[in-house]
Amino acid sequence: MEGVIYLDHAATSWPKPPAVGEAMIKALEIAGANPGRGSHRMAVQASRVLFGARKSLSTLFGISNANDIALGANTTEALNLAIQGWLREGDHVIATMAEHNSVRRPLEYMRRLRNVEVDYVPVNAAGAIDLTRFASMFRPNTRLVVCTHSSNLLGSIMPIGEIALLCQKHHVPLLVDAAQSAGIMPVNVRHLGIDMLAFPGHKGLLGPQGTGGLYIAPELDVQPLLHGGTGSQSEAIEQPLVRPDRYEAGTPNTVGVAGLTAGVQHVLELNPELIYKQEWDLTQHMMNGLSSVQGIRMLGPEIGQPRTGLLSFTVEGYDSAQLAFQLDRNYGIAVRSGFHCTPLAHESAGTTASGAVRASVGYNTSKEDVDALIEAVIELTASKII
Ligand code: ALA
Repeated sequence: MEGVIYLDHAATSWPKPPAVGEAMIKALEIAGANPGRGSHRMAVQASRVLFGARKSLSTLFGISNANDIALGANTTEALNLAIQGWLREGDHVIATMAEHNSVRRPLEYMRRLRNVEVDYVPVNAAGAIDLTRFASMFRPNTRLVVCTHSSNLLGSIMPIGEIALLCQKHHVPLLVDAAQSAGIMPVNVRHLGIDMLAFPGHKGLLGPQGTGGLYIAPELDVQPLLHGGTGSQSEAIEQPLVRPDRYEAGTPNTVGVAGLTAGVQHVLELNPELIYKQEWDLTQHMMNGLSSVQGIRMLGPEIGQPRTGLLSFTVEGYDSAQLAFQLDRNYGIAVRSGFHCTPLAHESAGTTASGAVRASVGYNTSKEDVDALIEAVIELTASKII
């Protein structure tokens, strides 16, 4: 779209690298058949598209067996598969107050459906957790720990490696929500000790919306969320046990997955470590520039501290939804505003009443884009036209 300064990458990345659209068109043309259903050449070609995605994702996330990745529609579906497929009656779960509703709502549903007990580890205003407090929350019936890798409101990065060590000590699997970290910083399931990783295809991985997936460690017996046709063992009444078929009932989004592979290839070429550094620099620049705005409160880690490429803020006396609206209408700057599907994080940050404006950068954001935001916020708040 012409004339848009897009600073809403934490919601979905835009624009996608040209290779993504090209791969999708190519998949429609040469792999338009149904993967795994039939042995004609075009069906085989479609299966190859899915396998290609699993291979690229395995390289990116350090996964040994590509079949341990269940491709799906988005992070929410992946988190529901992990949470509903793993938890049993009376289990206890530890999560954090930084979790998105895509974790909290399925957990609260499990509380009602299966008497699952849920504890949320407090998060301070900077988005950090106290590991000693975390460690004290394990109980004999704790059967899952769920933690976001990075808060979608505060941008703080959770100490996943340390949390994984706690989980290993208690023999509890760790499910990580990588909605704001996949493709944005290095995420290696082996190095970090992650047992299940839910990831979006359309954010940092630069693929189209409607793509995502879940890595499930081979030793975890997670029940499928959906039961149905897989193209394999069609005579069996039960869902096949073989992966990834067990978790991929129904015709998949082959075209979307082709785009996802192109996005992941782009991320691998750019290198997640360098993407993180570039986004961190831009966010620091944003924080320095906005610090002169009277009444501004920038949420999450302080300047100079690790954070992903998003900054949420409030300006005293200004409604955050109005501020975001004016940024769009008067300056063509797209940011997210209001509440960010994470009520407990808003509680931790003290923004339950005000909401917040969130600006988030991506792989293609320039310093000039960030300058435009800084100048616009300074102008809007100085002129008091809101
Ligand atoms: N969860 C996404 C966000 O934070 C959509 O905006």
